[in-house]
Amino acid sequence: MRHLTFAANWKMHIAPAEARAFASAFLAQSNPVEGRTLWFFPSAVSLEAAANAFGGRADVRIGAQDVHWEAKGAFTGATSIPLAHGAGATGALVGHSERRHVFGESDEETGRKVAALLAAGLTAMLCVGEQLSEREAGQTQAVCLRQLRAGLGGMGQDQWGQVVIAYEPVWAIGTGRNATPGDAASVHAAIRAELGRLGAPGRRPVLYGGSVNQGNVASLLAESEIDGVLVGGASLDPAGWARIVATG
Ligand code: 13P
Repeated sequence: MRHLTFAANWKMHIAPAEARAFASAFLAQSNPVEGRTLWFFPSAVSLEAAANAFGGRADVRIGAQDVHWEAKGAFTGATSIPLAHGAGATGALVGHSERRHVFGESDEETGRKVAALLAAGLTAMLCVGEQLSEREAGQTQAVCLRQLRAGLGGMGQDQWGQVVIAYEPVWAIGTGRNATPGDAASVHAAIRAELGRLGAPGRRPVLYGGSVNQGNVASLLAESEIDGVLVGGASLDPAGWARIVATG
């Protein structure tokens, strides 16, 4: 049976009270579907409210948008894995393009974060993707595979079950432009081949992100290489998100 993952990245939106209101509206319109997993990535301040509000529905997972690799210490403003886990997170995004390109996160830092998440028993959703100039220079696959190798370099071979990949071309995020389903599928195939070379024992989920919405989600999911979607703007409205997760 095909497994699909629908991940909502709420970015710097949705305060705790709004997370509770979102969950009650969403849960009233969306029932669990066999073979589908839903991830919500709220801001750190809304993690606990979201975890409580979704009430442990079996298909729902809550994750942090970013974590530090150190378990504790003097890192003002950062969220450690134990802090996120204590608030209800069972995973985290790592290396989102906004972390890489707005906050200057390096490939090496993504590797440390993935390794720390996996060691703590949590899921790492590693994001990879090329910028427009890199795409135009024909470097799409080289960039994505480099980010993949750096992100997964510190992991153990027994930890593959905790790894999810999201391909998000930077030029498609929040711009209304997205990769064609065929273009995305060919990058997914290259990512999947690299995962195999790195030792992944079976199929790992590879999600697509970047201007996914109600109008284009079905054509993306029609590609067998695309195991789900990671969505920003179109995940902020509970009714719209309920329609997206019911697609296909
Ligand atoms: P948009 O869906 O708003 O383009 O954002 C994509 C994204 O960055 C999800 O992580």
